[in-house]
Amino acid sequence: MSGASEPAGPRGPDVPSGLRDHPDRCRWNERYREADPDFVPHPLVTDALAAGLPTGPVLELACGRSGSALAMAAAGRTVTAVDISDHALAQLGRQARRHGLEGRVRCVLADLAAYPVAAERYALVLATRYWDPEVFDSAAAAVLPGGLLGWEALAQAPGGERGPYRVAHGELGARLPATFTVLAEEVHGSERHRASRLLARRRPAAPGHGGTERG
Ligand SMILES: C[S@@+](CC[C@H](N)C(=O)[O-])C[C@H]1O[C@@H](n2cnc3c(N)ncnc32)[C@H](O)[C@@H]1O
Repeated sequence: MSGASEPAGPRGPDVPSGLRDHPDRCRWNERYREADPDFVPHPLVTDALAAGLPTGPVLELACGRSGSALAMAAAGRTVTAVDISDHALAQLGRQARRHGLEGRVRCVLADLAAYPVAAERYALVLATRYWDPEVFDSAAAAVLPGGLLGWEALAQAPGGERGPYRVAHGELGARLPATFTVLAEEVHGSERHRASRLLARRRPAAPGHGGTERG
C-alpha cells in the first residue's frame, strides 16, 4: 500500500516514500506545474446543490486544483479532497486559506488505488475527468442514503477505441448498484474532450432515518 498524507503547511503535504516515484504523481505534478489553476467549479456542483443533498460531508476523488471542493466548502460542507499530486493539493490548500475555507477543506495525498473509502459516509461523492472502475464502485458505496454520486469520465467516440481512461456512454449508470437512481447521464464536449457525465441518487433511508436539505 502506498500510504496517504495530509498537507502540513503552505508547501503542501509531506510525500510518503511509497508515493515519491509513483508514475501518476510524477506525471500530474509536471502537468500542474505547466499551467496556473483557474479554480472554476465543475458544473456537477451546481447540479448537485440544485438536486438537494442530505446533511453530511463531501468527498472529491482525483480533485486536482479543485474549484468544486472550494465551492462545496463555501456552501458550508466539509470536504475531503483526495489526489496523488502534492503540487495540486498545495495549490488547493493555499486557495482554501486565501478564502478562509481551510477549516472545511481537508486535502489528502493518496493513490486512489490504495485509498480506503469509508462506506455510507458522504452526502456527495464527486470525481470529474477521472476513470477507474474499482474507484467508481467504492465511490458509490461511500454515498449516504439519499446522497448523490457525481462523476464525469472521458467518453469513447461512438465506434471508437475504448482505451483505459474512457467509458462507453451509459456505462457509468449501468455500473451503479440498484440502490441508485440516475438523475442525469449526458455526453458533453466533443472529439478528445467528449465526456460522459452522471448524477445519481442513492435511495433514501426509510422515513424516520434522516431528511434532505437544499444546498
Ligand atoms: C484529468 S485530472 C482531473 C482533475 C479534476 N478532477 C478536474 O476535473 O479538473 C485527473 C486527476 O487525477 C489525479 N490522479 C491520477 N492518478 C491518480 C491516482 N492513482 N490516485 C489519485 N489521484 C490520481 C491527477 O493528479 C489529476 O489531478
